Amino acid sequence: MQVDPSESSASSSRATPPPERAAIMIVMGIVLLYALWTLRIEPAPSAGPVVSVNAGPTSLTAEMIPLVSGDEPIVEVFTKVGCPVCHVIPGIPGANGQVGPPLTLGVTGVQRLADPTYRGRASTVHEYVVESVVDPAAFVVPGYPERTMPVWYGAKLSALALEKIAEYLEHQTGNVPAK
Ligand code: HEC
Repeated sequence: MQVDPSESSASSSRATPPPERAAIMIVMGIVLLYALWTLRIEPAPSAGPVVSVNAGPTSLTAEMIPLVSGDEPIVEVFTKVGCPVCHVIPGIPGANGQVGPPLTLGVTGVQRLADPTYRGRASTVHEYVVESVVDPAAFVVPGYPERTMPVWYGAKLSALALEKIAEYLEHQTGNVPAK
């Protein structure tokens, strides 16, 4: 039986693909490997700077908190730095933390200033809020844990952000029971 020469030449060309095709395969392989590699080391897309209200208070560290310029809307000023993790703040969605007192300073602020054990330097509620944020140890609200509120907020909040916080909180009377 005779072998058809055309068939044999076709099969031999299948067995040895032209060098260009081999080169293309190699390049594609490298590109694919590179793509897989970059996907592997790509950091997971961040969910944004907003601190989860479910995060335990002890897991809140200065490194997790971005700088706040004060140009942000007030809700963002609070949520970016994590105040809602520990405080109820009237008008701020998700701010139902129970670690610290409800931030109804429109009611509680005057009470703190009138407290005979108050040794801070604030003479207005506005000043008291600023002092509470930058120097939490100046007055520890009775019934709440000391050294729990972070002490590094002064380094994260701009003067404008602090002003906005104080301006907002000093007017909150809220409908949550003041403690
Ligand atoms: C890890 C928990 C925690 C976080 C986060 C936190 N606080 Fe507090 N805060 C407390 C605790 C506990 C107290 C009460 C003890 C004290 O006075 O230090 C307190 C007290 C206060 C007071 C005094 C309240 C009063 O009734 O006299 C103010 C004002 C306040 N915090 C504002 C803030 C603001 C604004 C933020 C965000 C920039 C914030 N806190 C973030 C725990 C926290």
